Amino acid sequence: MTDKLCLVTGLQWGDEGKGAIVDFLAHDVSVVVRFQGGHNAGHTLIIDGKKTVLHLIPSGILRDQVECLISGGVVVSLPDLQHEITQLNDAEVSFADRLYISMNCPIILSSHKSLDLAREKAKGKDAIGTTGRGIGPAYEDKIGRRAIKIFDTLNPDRLRDKLEDLMDWHNFQLKHYYHDVVCDVSKEYDNILKYVEPLKPYFVDTNQRLLKHIESGKKILFEGAQGSMLDIDLGTYPYVTSSNTTIAGLLSSTGLNPKKINDIVGILKAYTTRVGGGPFPSELHDDDGKFLAEKGNEFGSTTGRARRCGWLDLVPIKSAVMANAVNHICLTKIDVLDGMSEIKICTGYRLNGELIDYAPTLSDIYSNCQPVYQSFPGWSEKTVGLQEFDRLPRNAKDYINFIQSYLNVKVSLVSTGPERDAVIVIDRPFK
Ligand code: GDP
Ligand code: IMO
Ligand code: MG
Repeated sequence: MTDKLCLVTGLQWGDEGKGAIVDFLAHDVSVVVRFQGGHNAGHTLIIDGKKTVLHLIPSGILRDQVECLISGGVVVSLPDLQHEITQLNDAEVSFADRLYISMNCPIILSSHKSLDLAREKAKGKDAIGTTGRGIGPAYEDKIGRRAIKIFDTLNPDRLRDKLEDLMDWHNFQLKHYYHDVVCDVSKEYDNILKYVEPLKPYFVDTNQRLLKHIESGKKILFEGAQGSMLDIDLGTYPYVTSSNTTIAGLLSSTGLNPKKINDIVGILKAYTTRVGGGPFPSELHDDDGKFLAEKGNEFGSTTGRARRCGWLDLVPIKSAVMANAVNHICLTKIDVLDGMSEIKICTGYRLNGELIDYAPTLSDIYSNCQPVYQSFPGWSEKTVGLQEFDRLPRNAKDYINFIQSYLNVKVSLVSTGPERDAVIVIDRPFK
């Protein structure tokens, strides 16, 4: 039997290379769905040397046969969505009848962005290091049951009423609590109407559409944003994003029957990176860290910020594998390790003199954890672009085998470069 539904999800702090793998796996699928997060995400695809960075639009968009859905769990900035569509159209990617956006998506307002920035500024050295896109405040309003959804923008009177109420509240905080500049409600109203007009053809009930696709037996990929360690509940709180980045976010956003999901591919970078604040036990501040940052080109796809780099830390990944029911691991950026003489993997922590084998959820406790490493010999051969497992150096194979046995999940894919086809397929998920 053919597997029809597959989730691709990040197992670290984001930027594991999810976009590139979704694009790779999308070659024979019909639908790709984004289900959480917003334009805080930056998913990079490199095809024949040409770079495309997607923030809201699913990474299946460069495959002509793929229909792309943005389901209701995603928070949408209308100007940024319009900008992304324009950029793709300028690059001659056409998708008039294969991009659909849920009317259930809450919209991100300019005042959400202002609040995000004001809060970060007020936090000073304790700032989260958000992307400054208004993601947190927008999700707060959704949970507070006062969000403006895309559906509301289609009725101008209703929109004006809701917008006045909501932005009054935002402006009150901006003015009296943060002593910051307030946002202009009439300007925001005009802008929403301006941006929503050309987007109207894309708005549908994506969940009903998805259901029909499932019933007709289509192959469907679900594309996670961020990663398990940024999950609002399971991640390193409060240094997390404001959505459920795990499989839970997929289920609540789409109403999907969990039993229908055949494959769950966990994406794992061969080392660790993190953008923004928060604990990172295996972070490196030495020449090895610099090597990873430079060779891995570790600069944020969304904000351009330098990513913090460190050794692979399998401890929280073990929990992420369980939380997501991962049955395939895709190891990315193995080529970045080429030329290192010694490579380390964190396999436990020392906390207050005791050895532990789990990652404490609370950041205050987690930041006291000292990494316990296992050391591996590196390799001098180049692995860039390899497509066959047998051609990997012995030491690279040992590194991969260790990850596989520690996590007790097969490494089914190994990505060996940023280009579309630089992937070793050991056991193709989603057959
Ligand atoms: P995402 O957010 O998980 O989609 O990841 P990003 O696109 O933010 O960051 C991953 C970066 O690594 C991008 O610049 C990709 O082009 C690049 N990349 C992806 N896979 C590989 C790989 O196997 N090797 C190398 N060297 N680069 C990769
Ligand atoms: P992709 O999908 C890496 C991080 C931010 C910050 C925290 C909260 O490309 O992997 P937010 O703006 O979401 O409120 O910021 O989450 N963050 C990401 N880090 N990759 C991402 O997305 C991220 N999206 C948010 O840096 O630490
Ligand atoms: Mg990214």
